[in-house]
Formats: sequence, structure tokens, C-alpha cells
Amino acid sequence: MTARVRAGVLVSGGGTNLQALIDACAAPGFPAEIAVVISNVAEAFALERARKAGIATAVIDHKAFPSRDEFEAALVARLREHRADLVCLAGFMRLLGGTFLRQFPSRVLNIHPALLPAFPGLHGPRQALDYGVKIAGCTVHLVDEGTDTGPVVAQAAVPVLADDDEAKLAARILAEEHRLYPLALRWVAEGRLTIEGRKARVEAPPVAEGLSLRNPGR
Ligand code: GAR
Repeated sequence: MTARVRAGVLVSGGGTNLQALIDACAAPGFPAEIAVVISNVAEAFALERARKAGIATAVIDHKAFPSRDEFEAALVARLREHRADLVCLAGFMRLLGGTFLRQFPSRVLNIHPALLPAFPGLHGPRQALDYGVKIAGCTVHLVDEGTDTGPVVAQAAVPVLADDDEAKLAARILAEEHRLYPLALRWVAEGRLTIEGRKARVEAPPVAEGLSLRNPGR
């Protein structure tokens, strides 16, 4: 049996995407495992989810560091301690710069609640409603130094309905996030991802997976 890819997961909040990753990693044959969950917020419920699953946790509060570089160096040190091969941002609400990203080149994934490049930054679902688009969704992308600008790995779409408010639309998108993130992590862990310029290319996902995001074949 080949060793599973070790993912470090960074969180700031409730951690429903973390839960989706924990559940996926628990399935036999899934090619990744979660090495450590790190939160910049001590009260984040995501930490409870990790503890319940028996996963190592750490709190690294950005406010305790005089600079972003020092905060990022502390994150990197903790990830290395747990031998993380790659990093998944799952509702991690801090921007990461070169000090961090240079340590994990093309190995940092993020999930964003909008169809990038539309509606980057905060409040993706609200931005979609305010604009009046009829299709919304979520994106898993590689992280670069911009705000939600890195190569797109996978996307899933949902309709925007006439009576949607922000909460309804965000919940519909979140349900898709929970399917999409494990699927993207699987692809990366299986080594199917190559970077061509600013594009991420996924090598030959099985047709059933690629066509039906509702059935990520966990
Ligand atoms: C998710 O909707 C995620 O896409 C979003 O925060 C939420 C976290 O929920 N991330 C961003 O907006 C990043 N720009 P969770 O803690 O329940 O996974």
C-alpha cells in the first residue's frame, strides 16, 4: 500500500468543509489523510470536529505575531512538525503571502463560495445576489499571492432562485462545497494535477467523476 498524502488543514470557523474532508479521508482507499488542523481562532468549532476525529490540533493566533511573515513562519513550522505534504484552506480567513506559499509550491488549496474569477474576497454568495447572476457556485483553486486568483482546480454550479436570500444561497453553495473539496483533494493526492502556465490541468478524471459532481466517488 502506498503512503497516503498528508494534508494540513487551516481553519477559522465552523469547519463544515473540514468535516467533509475528515469524512472523505475516513473512507477506505482515500488517498489522503489529515495530519493536523490549525486554527487562527481559538474558539473555532472546527477544532472540536478535529479533536472528535482524533486529529492533532493547534491554535496559532495571528494577533500574537508582530508581522504576517512571523505568523506564516509559525504556521509553516507547525505544518512541518506534522509532516504535511500539502495544505487545504477550509474557511481560513487570512490571506497568505510568499513566506508561506514558497514552502508549499502549488500545494495549497482553497475553497471559495463563488464561481471564480467572479466574486473573489468576502461574501461570495452576497456578491452573486447583489449582481443578479442566475448561476452561482463554488471553486477549489490553488492559492497564489492574490485574493482568490490562483489556478482553478474544480468548480460546481448551483441555480440562483427568485426567492433566494444570502443564507439560502450560501447553504445551497455550501452543500456543493462539501462534495467538491474532497473530490479536488483526491485528484491532487493522486497526482493528477499539473500546472501549465496559470492553468491547472486535471489528468483524465474518470468520466463518471468528471460529469457528476454529485457523485464524487469517495
Ligand atoms: C465556506 O463557505 C468557504 O467557502 C468560505 O467560508 C466558509 C467556511 O465554512 N471561505 C471563504 O469565503 C474564503 N474566502 P466552513 O467553516 O463551514 O467550512
